[in-house]
Amino acid sequence: MTAQRTARGDVAIPVPAAGSGVRMGPGAPKALRLLAGEPLLLHAVRNIAAAPSVGLIVVAAPPNGADTIASMLGNVDIPVRIVLGGATRQASVASALGAVPAEFDLILVHDAARALTPPALIEAVAAKLRAGSSAVIPALPVVDTIKRVGDAAEVVATVDRSTLRAVQTPQGFRRATLTAAHAGAAGDHTDDAGLAEQAGVRVDTVPGDDRAFKITRPFDLAVAEALLAFDGGTPASDAIVGDSRSIDPNVERGTTREG
Ligand code: CTP
Ligand code: MG
Repeated sequence: MTAQRTARGDVAIPVPAAGSGVRMGPGAPKALRLLAGEPLLLHAVRNIAAAPSVGLIVVAAPPNGADTIASMLGNVDIPVRIVLGGATRQASVASALGAVPAEFDLILVHDAARALTPPALIEAVAAKLRAGSSAVIPALPVVDTIKRVGDAAEVVATVDRSTLRAVQTPQGFRRATLTAAHAGAAGDHTDDAGLAEQAGVRVDTVPGDDRAFKITRPFDLAVAEALLAFDGGTPASDAIVGDSRSIDPNVERGTTREG
């Protein structure tokens, strides 16, 4: 792996990790909460560092969290920088982006909260960028039937889900694309592809991965614990994009559409 990293290592990963985790309930900032006995952020960074393309990780830390994070990540075997995050995810990404040296042309923004993301998904996004895309995001088909509701929570319409996708991170960009998108940002966006879209950039997709789900609520933490136990501690690096957990975004999941 070290040899491969020397050959590539051309990807920088800003990691927004500055959120407080309101939906997780009271407690420490989400990135510092424990998953199977270790901080969420440590799981996330280990999986990022296992992707051969990654040459630098820049963590956007929560208020007062930088020192804790610096000691937590001291043993990671690729360069890690830590910056202070902002009041919104977008501000945290901008802060981390500002600490990425100019030599990195490929930048993949990746949520700390997607702590179990297989390294192979990082490689898939990077590969699509190298193949010529300006912006690339992982996407999965939507499995639930989707309804639009009105002010009284009454159903107004059933939405055609065949053209809908749930998107994940890492979201990959050529440096110039991402910096221009952030510089020209109007309003707050929940993902970086939204900024690029607003700037008129074509955003391509690669098949997402169920394991790249965002750990948001206590239920998600329980699922993550179960997945780690299921793997018997096997690092996510052994997961393979293209297996049963990785679905082409253009293919409806499952055998029925009733979902
Ligand atoms: N994030 C960040 N800076 C913020 C807000 C969010 O860096 N001001 C990061 C989170 O740490 C997380 C990612 O953006 O890794 C996705 O955000 P989310 O899952 O919403 O995390 P939180 O904002 O912490 O959670 P909540 O919205 O429930 O408070
Ligand atoms: Mg949030």
